[in-house]
Amino acid sequence: MDKTIEKIVSLCKRRGFIFQSSDIYGGFSAVYDYGPLGIELKNNISQLWWKEMTRAHENIVGLDSGILMHPTIWEASGHVGAFNDPLVDCKQCKSRYRADEFSDDFPSLNWTEIQCPKCGTTGDLTNPRQFNLMFKTHAGPVEETGTEAFLRPETAQGIYVNYQLVQGAMRLKVPFGIAQIGKAFRNEIVARNFIFRTREFEQMEMQYFVKPGTDDDIIQEWKEKRFQFYINSLGIIPSRLRFHEHGENELAHYAKEAWDIEYEFPFGWSEIEGIHNRTDFDLSRHQEFSGKNLSYFDQPNNERFLPYIIETSAGLNRMLLTVLTDAYWEDKENNRIVMKFDPRIAPVKAVICPLVKKDGLPEKAREIMDILKPHFKVIYDQQGSIGKRYYRQDEAGTPFGITVDHQSINDNTITLRDRDTQKQDRLPIDVLLNTIKSKI
Ligand code: GAP
Repeated sequence: MDKTIEKIVSLCKRRGFIFQSSDIYGGFSAVYDYGPLGIELKNNISQLWWKEMTRAHENIVGLDSGILMHPTIWEASGHVGAFNDPLVDCKQCKSRYRADEFSDDFPSLNWTEIQCPKCGTTGDLTNPRQFNLMFKTHAGPVEETGTEAFLRPETAQGIYVNYQLVQGAMRLKVPFGIAQIGKAFRNEIVARNFIFRTREFEQMEMQYFVKPGTDDDIIQEWKEKRFQFYINSLGIIPSRLRFHEHGENELAHYAKEAWDIEYEFPFGWSEIEGIHNRTDFDLSRHQEFSGKNLSYFDQPNNERFLPYIIETSAGLNRMLLTVLTDAYWEDKENNRIVMKFDPRIAPVKAVICPLVKKDGLPEKAREIMDILKPHFKVIYDQQGSIGKRYYRQDEAGTPFGITVDHQSINDNTITLRDRDTQKQDRLPIDVLLNTIKSKI
């Protein structure tokens, strides 16, 4: 297969998208740092999500809640008791596995007959034991009982505990939504496949508060909208996307119905986003644990109820990996690697290259930089042959290449190169800004 995760990892390091955390210390497992192109791409994706999930809907607003919250929130949410993964150890080579890596039906496995995938020993795997995925810390200078706090494993709870404040302040009427982008932390047993499963990651979640009874229809609407986002906003190839419905034994402790949007990665079909019907599970638990009435008053019908919640929950880093994987293209005919990002999310929109470093061409190129850079990310490159400069930008996924040549000095025109077709068109400089703007 042309596309392997190893090739994508290597390109990401080479071009400054993503680096292993703490590289000079030998790395820190399951955490990644985003380089200059990675952060541009990540910001472009999260801004598209924010626009789509808040500004496009009059009844959805934003929130930014803290990573640390009152520890009782995690008891109420069920995360202290039920946010566990089944852990299996090999007594021989000390490797660790999630039991469900061996089979979805792992409780019925006879572990004495199973071979360790790493050292090959049979009979030395322990029975699965539950391992809580939340990171614990202490708030304040003294580590004592009562100061324990958790790094949030999902952003959703920050929305639930603020829902009445947000609803009141913005005078929202059911159905309405609250959206949030932020970091989440999970002490994953096995972290692999690059940024797919990490211990520190970002979620983009939207919680939609609905009247009970309308939830079954509303989840269908959000399923469809979220699926279309990958195709229409991120430009993902539709045949590489599908739904997976959670069966009885897959459902999270809070969910009545759950659908994953999956992408076909080089390591197989895997979840990138979940759409869940959480019913009134979370609000009723917070009502019970906080002692506060969290019901919503429906004025026209003069009734009170606890809203049901339809959740759309996407991982920003997984979305980024989806975009990177989908864009990776080995153009064998021209012996180059191209990241075919949709121009709207490409980290850099254009590279400006003077053909030579003399005869006034660099100055002309700088004039063009000044025209374009207030509007979008552009870079200037005069290093090496023009072919090499373009190939570097093909790997960075830059959709447009602007060459300033001797003719540019005489008639104020440039050539505009298309990354995917490599076709070049000559254009007057004064239409360049609008030409690129119309495509991003
Ligand atoms: N609030 C619901 C919730 O957190 P989830 O299915 O556990 O549901 C939602 O997570 C999304 O968060 C996933 O679809 C995935 O994109 C992302 N995610 C979860 N765990 C992750 C991890 N360890 N590393 C990267 N992304 C993760």
